Amino acid sequence: MTAVILLSRGGYGHTPREDLDQLINSVSASLNDAKTDAPSFVIGAFVNRGAPSLPDALHSCAEQGATKIVVLPLFVPSDKNLQRWLAKVMVRWHSTWDGAPLVLQIWPALAEHKALGEAITSVIKEYSTDTSDLIKTAPPRWEHNPAGWSYPPPHSYHLLLCQGPRCTANGATDRWQELRNRLRKKNLLERKNGALPVTTDCLFPCNHGPVMIVHPDNAWYSVPSTAAVDTIVTQHIENKSVAQEHLIQP
Ligand code: FES
Repeated sequence: MTAVILLSRGGYGHTPREDLDQLINSVSASLNDAKTDAPSFVIGAFVNRGAPSLPDALHSCAEQGATKIVVLPLFVPSDKNLQRWLAKVMVRWHSTWDGAPLVLQIWPALAEHKALGEAITSVIKEYSTDTSDLIKTAPPRWEHNPAGWSYPPPHSYHLLLCQGPRCTANGATDRWQELRNRLRKKNLLERKNGALPVTTDCLFPCNHGPVMIVHPDNAWYSVPSTAAVDTIVTQHIENKSVAQEHLIQP
């Protein structure tokens, strides 16, 4: 049984997941209709800023009985360095799998396949007679508002939580949800005595990922679990004392 993982880049909110699910449904339906020697199932995963991560998706496919798992990167540009790293992620995940034998493959990214050019051409042809005008239909509130997005919300601590590829593979998306939930429940989210959390790309010490920095204290944390998020929020943000047990040690 073959499983195909459509691998995308993520984004904010639920939209990336919904878009990817829609694509998976459409691809699955087409493959079923074609009645070819098609993969047995198709699922999605995210390189960054989204769940499931690639290791979680590989695990899910293997647990569903796949004997061959193929990863198809959907993102543009194709990013050769990232693809080399994805292959390493797959090999490392495989070393943790103690179930039935598995074949793993990574196929050329969609950006490198002629099918993408054909799809774009077909969209251009389909919409080339569209006469709508965004400028005429945009609501007035879309005009530039100098008062909006000019100042940061109130905060005492600035939290930078990495959502780079390596931290995402280690659960950074869960940590981000937990961080916001914890701060909100404790009434510390974007408050004068609270914290302003933001996501970042790679912060460098990936091997300790997911990584979070708390400023102005320059405290670099490894956040391996949602429990670690709770501890850091309680100790550092609420009680104003560095959570030593989660600091990244030199
Ligand atoms: S990907 Fe997070 S520190 Fe590198």
